[in-house]
Amino acid sequence: MWNATVLSLFPEMFPGTLDFSISGKALKKGLWSLKKINIRDFSNDKNGKVDDVPFGGGHGMVLKPEVLDKALKSAAYDKGPRIYLSPRGRKFDQSFAKELSKEKGVVFICGRYEGVDERFLNHNDIQEVSVGDYILSGGEIGAQLIMDATIRLLPNVIGNSKGLIEESFEGGLLEYPLYTQPRVWNGIEVPEVLISGDHKKIEMWKIKMSEEITKSKRPDLWSKYLKS
Ligand SMILES: C[S@@+](CC[C@H](N)C(=O)[O-])C[C@H]1O[C@@H](n2cnc3c(N)ncnc32)[C@H](O)[C@@H]1O
Repeated sequence: MWNATVLSLFPEMFPGTLDFSISGKALKKGLWSLKKINIRDFSNDKNGKVDDVPFGGGHGMVLKPEVLDKALKSAAYDKGPRIYLSPRGRKFDQSFAKELSKEKGVVFICGRYEGVDERFLNHNDIQEVSVGDYILSGGEIGAQLIMDATIRLLPNVIGNSKGLIEESFEGGLLEYPLYTQPRVWNGIEVPEVLISGDHKKIEMWKIKMSEEITKSKRPDLWSKYLKS
């Protein structure tokens, strides 16, 4: 079973959003499991201190290497890559989610404050992964984001896996527009082709719309798609 181990100063934040809907149901069904490790439990200090001021000055506090190292060692038998959530890491995307879904699991290290001591990262085989070009207060939301995108791809989590193939990014394109009942809403009708019953025409319409949307909303993806 795919397992996520999370090292955090706030383990009570988990499963958080992952306890609901698709990932929540999958967790209850035992399609994935979650292990939480409180970094503070590995402090040597009687007051549970886990951080200190940065050498060389600068603001904020840095998580101490020996505390993080002990916390990580406690997950030594947990399978999968060690990922430190970090704004300077490889940018997370759908292909990365696919890679992670093929692993046996992942061990996440959630930073806080100014970040973690560099020696801890270099001493262990840790991959830095970013969830976008902005600064969050901690790695926990990023870890949940990565887990959500990955859990959807695990076997048997989503009933109709054909739906996954049609989703945005899967074929390098964004998704076509979606419509549901009623057929006319606010005087606006759904595109006629979708109620034509002509499956070939519908497929062609979906591809055309996906292409147009990708071209106008994400020219970067569009040029990648043209090259592929
Ligand atoms: C306030 S941030 C530290 C930012 C760091 N001083 C910097 O300038 O890059 C605290 C923690 O949040 C997490 N974090 C913040 N932004 C992130 C992002 N874009 N992607 C992944 N993790 C992030 C990291 O674990 C980081 O250690």
